[in-house]
Amino acid sequence: MTLAAPVQETLYVELADRSYPIHVGDLGVQQPERLSQLLEPLIPGQQVAVITNDTIAPLYLSQLLQALGQRQVDVYQLPDGEAYKTLDSFAAVTTFLLEKRHNRSTCLIALGGGVVGDLCGFVAATFQRGVAFIQIPTTLLAQVDSSVGGKTAVNHPVGKNMIGAFYQPKAVLADTTVLATLPSREYAAGLAEVIKYGVIDDVEFFDFLEANVSALARRSSATLQHVILRSCASKAKVVSEDERESGRRAILNFGHTFGHAIEKLAGYGQWLHGEAVAIGMVMAAELSVLHCGFPPADAQRLRTLLQGLGLPVILGQQRIGVDAMIEAMGMDKKVSDGRLKFVLARQLGDVIISDDVSLNGLRKLLTEQMS
Ligand code: NAD
Ligand code: GLY
Repeated sequence: MTLAAPVQETLYVELADRSYPIHVGDLGVQQPERLSQLLEPLIPGQQVAVITNDTIAPLYLSQLLQALGQRQVDVYQLPDGEAYKTLDSFAAVTTFLLEKRHNRSTCLIALGGGVVGDLCGFVAATFQRGVAFIQIPTTLLAQVDSSVGGKTAVNHPVGKNMIGAFYQPKAVLADTTVLATLPSREYAAGLAEVIKYGVIDDVEFFDFLEANVSALARRSSATLQHVILRSCASKAKVVSEDERESGRRAILNFGHTFGHAIEKLAGYGQWLHGEAVAIGMVMAAELSVLHCGFPPADAQRLRTLLQGLGLPVILGQQRIGVDAMIEAMGMDKKVSDGRLKFVLARQLGDVIISDDVSLNGLRKLLTEQMS
């Protein structure tokens, strides 16, 4: 199917006075005059701080600086990597802002993937008790997931994302053109989260993804624009219903309880987050077959789609013990009242949150999946 798309489209995260737009498409991140038109109404004052990293800055920073015009603009450039999503970086960025005399009407801009976005958002949440921030996500994962919904955080040595805040951006600018430079593993990892939305919310979107594997593989801009919009629409809907994850928002974690355990046990960095989520979604689908009648043929469709888009569906050579997996899952922060909660699919596009999975059932499933 060939898609023709307008240059850019906009949807909104509806959160009363904290509602905000998500602009998707060719937003002009590589054309400063056009980008400037989008940014001008979003920036409250005369000060801006751009937070980015050493990989993204040489690619896209100069265009952004041109778009920001004559105001005071300061840039904090982090080294690349999850290893820098820390309290030390948080403190360093805060000190930088204070030294540059940023005040309460400053505006922070996150130019980067989820690491930069999560850190920048957390600084924005706390600097002078909260300042405006804009997300310009540059990875597919950040465009369809981390930049939307207001989860901001840094890591603690004891666990990922253990220090953070819910704090919504003023806008998200998801420019599809920047995805051209994304390494292929990172691109595929973002597609895992895209496929997740098909499973948890939107069977027609799942069908669309199946029908557009080759367009996705060649990063067709029209297809990507559509895919990012549909993904963000699903996420925006869930976040609007349950901003602080007191209930339904947990469906966004489909496959993640398994995925987080895999990431941790394999050693962080071995699997990208999206890769571990891909394997985790296959495990969650098989658990759904056992527990709530998810059709085995649909579990197979999920496997085929993930593989078609270059994602792993099994651990392969890697040996992770079943007991270690169960323990790591028990340590996961989604444990409530001593029972593990799982997001399970009844059918494609329809999931439930269940705490009714027995330890024996889980052990049996993991033994099959990991042997
Ligand atoms: P990342 O930010 O580390 O980016 C991945 C790599 O791609 C990095 O090396 C980065 O420098 C590089 N890169 C980014 N954009 C590029 C571009 N356009 N061209 C070339 N290279 C580019 O990883 P990520 O997958 O974007 O984000 C992962 C982080 O997001 C994790 O810290 C995770 O905890 C967090 N996360 C947060 C949420 C949330 O709701 N806040 C949701 C999911 C994940
Ligand atoms: N990435 C899961 C969430 O935003 O809730």
